[in-house]
Parts: sequence; structure tokens; C-alpha cells
Amino acid sequence: KIYSNASLASIAVAKEISDLIRQRQEDGKHVVLGLATGSTPIKVYKELIRLHKEEGLSFSNVYSFNLDEYYPMQPDSIHSYVRFMEEQLFNHVDIPKGNYNIPNGTLPQEDIAAFCAEYEQKIEDLGGIDFQLLGIGGNGHIGFNEPGSLQNSKTRLITLDHVTRAAAAGEFQGIQKVPRKAITAGVSTIMKAERIVLMGLGEGKSKIVAAAVEGPITDQVPASYLQLHSNTMFVIDEPCSSEL
Ligand code: GLP
Repeated sequence: KIYSNASLASIAVAKEISDLIRQRQEDGKHVVLGLATGSTPIKVYKELIRLHKEEGLSFSNVYSFNLDEYYPMQPDSIHSYVRFMEEQLFNHVDIPKGNYNIPNGTLPQEDIAAFCAEYEQKIEDLGGIDFQLLGIGGNGHIGFNEPGSLQNSKTRLITLDHVTRAAAAGEFQGIQKVPRKAITAGVSTIMKAERIVLMGLGEGKSKIVAAAVEGPITDQVPASYLQLHSNTMFVIDEPCSSEL
């Protein structure tokens, strides 16, 4: 779905999320969201905060699982995805503190595999992800599933691509300061979601979005795996549609 600009695209995605939350509330049920970081979803979170403050949207029945976190990473660091999510969304809505989950960047390396298995189990125990929000990396990554990630990959510790670290160099004041690793939900973790919305904004993402949607399904463009998911929508703005 192509929107004329980023704001309209973001409002539409926020509406889909809020409709789902409200529907589940009416049915007396909880909802499980898969959430993303990066610049792309920021306007979606802004609109969700507005809906909470101005239109009474409650997050009391919401559980969420973020896709990824750098490793190692302290949650109070300005680069932490915990801090990002609290500042961009969680601190401004009524989601119960224990309901949101973000991979833990502070664990000793030997504890990560067990943590990742628990993360997957927790999602399953809640009935699976109802709605997964995704951005896309310039190299086609989803979460931090870099090129080469397999379709059956699960939540795990990965080594970041040079391209990904270079893209983050500005925020970290130099590529040397960008962590070399991250914990990410796997491709299979993402593909198990009932509904997936990938957002692409701006001309900079136009080539990789075209490759993901129209190119071959390949581990070299992990977002192309989404062609195999029966309930996925790409929501993009006009500049991002230029290569389609
Ligand atoms: C990071 C995140 C991804 C995100 C990507 C794109 O690598 N781990 O989940 O999709 O960046 O970021 P942006 O939305 O800022 O372009």
C-alpha cells in the first residue's frame, strides 16, 4: 500500500494497531504486538500516544516483544532500544511495566542462548504475536536478521554486518563505537506472527523494498522471506515506491 507521505502511512498503521487493541478489549482478550525500533516507526508511536491521550486508547491489555537489541548494551544508554521504546512509546501510555519485553543486552554471553529460548517461549505462552511491525535495513535485514539468515532461524545472538554498523555510525559517533553484535528475533519468530506490516519510508529504501517485494526469495535479502507469509502488507510512502 502506497501513501503519498510518511505521516499518512504512519497514521494508517497506527489505526490498524489501535483497531486491533480495541477489538481485543471488547472481547475481553489481550493482544501481543511485535515492535520495531529505528527511525521508521517513530511516527506510528507518536500517533498511538495521541490516540491514548486524546481518544482514550488503553494499552492495559497489550503485551509486546521488541525485535532486537545491541549486544552488549545497558538499558539506560542513549543507544539502547529499551530506552528508545520507553521514550518513544511506553512511558507515554498505560502499558503495564511487566508487559513489554526487549532482548536483554546486559547478560553474560553464556546466558544468552537460554534467554533467547525463554523469549520465544514467552511469546508462545501468550498465544503468539498478533501483529508484527517491521522496518527494513538498507541491506534487507528485518530485526537484525542480516543477509545469510535462514528462514528457520530463531531468537539468537548475531554478528552485525558492516553495512548495518556503518549505517549506525552517525548515532554512535563513529563505526568503532557501534557494537559488533546484537540479539534479534529470528526469521521464523517473525514469520509466525498472524499479521505483519513492514514499513518503508523515503527514497533511500526504494531499491531494497523493490528487491524484497519483486525479487527472488533469498537469504541475501531477508525481507524477501515475507513473500512466503500469507498476511503481510508493505506500507510505504511515494518516494519509497520509485523502484517498483
Ligand atoms: C535497525 C533495526 C531494524 C530497523 C532498521 C532500519 O537496524 N534493528 O529493526 O528496521 O534499523 O532503521 P530505520 O528505520 O532507522 O531506517
